[in-house]
Amino acid sequence: MRMPRGGRLFLATCLGSLFVLVLYFQSITKPEAAGKMSSSPGKSRRSPLQTLYNGDQQLDLLSAQRSLQGRRELLEQACLSHTKKRRVLSPPDLKHLIVDDKHGLIYCYVPKVACTNWKRVLMVLTSDGRYTDPLAIPANEAHVAGNLRTLSEFSVPEINRRLRSYLKFIFVREPFERLVSAYRNKFTRSYNTAFHKRYGTKIIRRHRADPEPESLKRGHDVTFPEFVQYLVDPRTQREEPFNEHWERVHSLCHPCLIHYDVVGKYETLEPDARAVLRLAGVEGALQFPTSGKSTRTDGDMAARYFKHISPFYQKRLFNLYRMDFLLFNYSTPEYLRTR
Ligand SMILES: *[C@@H]1O[C@H](CO)[C@@H](O)[C@H](O)[C@H]1NC(C)=O
Repeated sequence: MRMPRGGRLFLATCLGSLFVLVLYFQSITKPEAAGKMSSSPGKSRRSPLQTLYNGDQQLDLLSAQRSLQGRRELLEQACLSHTKKRRVLSPPDLKHLIVDDKHGLIYCYVPKVACTNWKRVLMVLTSDGRYTDPLAIPANEAHVAGNLRTLSEFSVPEINRRLRSYLKFIFVREPFERLVSAYRNKFTRSYNTAFHKRYGTKIIRRHRADPEPESLKRGHDVTFPEFVQYLVDPRTQREEPFNEHWERVHSLCHPCLIHYDVVGKYETLEPDARAVLRLAGVEGALQFPTSGKSTRTDGDMAARYFKHISPFYQKRLFNLYRMDFLLFNYSTPEYLRTR
């Protein structure tokens, strides 16, 4: 479990010590893939990025590539029509981007979208043989800061070189399914006392009319409507950024500034993960762990929780997460009563 306080401290340190801007002008169509990769020492095979764009026409990869290309183009279009000004990224913006120098990969992790398993896989890939089985890595170890390198740790030229030549991928999920999943995991499980204390007590203090002393003290029984009120309350984001579990992908991974080569989806996790591992050239050596749990969204979970949210709050919540819906081609949920 990442401690939010540590994250902020880290961010503050970064902002203070290296206030450098990343000038990252990327031509969208042809990344620096055609040339020889000097950045992967001792390897003559293609980099994942080269495989994607100058593909060997491996037939079974083609159909997967076509849908990946469709998502990439849709994202690009959505960015053009919905973002006004381009801003410049600085290293602290890149702390969610995990780097694999060995295979030439960059992965932006989004909590509640199979990120534990992706971190495990990246630990295997970068471990020089110390790990071979992703599932043998305990979940908490996968989240220890420092076990994996993030792009924010590098100098600006080193960041830009990697952004140009590595395969950048991201996995996303229907925004409200992800949000409900975060709520259930962080507020309805009795073991998540750190979240109850850190966020629950505040939510109850602010958004419950006549709270029990025990609820105020422990923050253990936040309801979904209370959580929603907390999210749409303007004070919340004025005070601090959202916790990464409910922060929008748009803010965590900057998909309009970093041109992701592969946009994977939780709803099609297995084939999409396979495509990434194949591009990385490790498909035979490594399988993406899809723990017995089904990742298929029944589409009902969020609907059930939203029944208890008034149209007024539904609308405000949708506005908050609108960019994630638009950028990743998720349609407005049928159950919303905002029209
Ligand atoms: C976007 O979503 C629609 C409706 O679900 C789907 O038909 C279409 O193929 C999607 N487009 C892309 C590029 O994924």
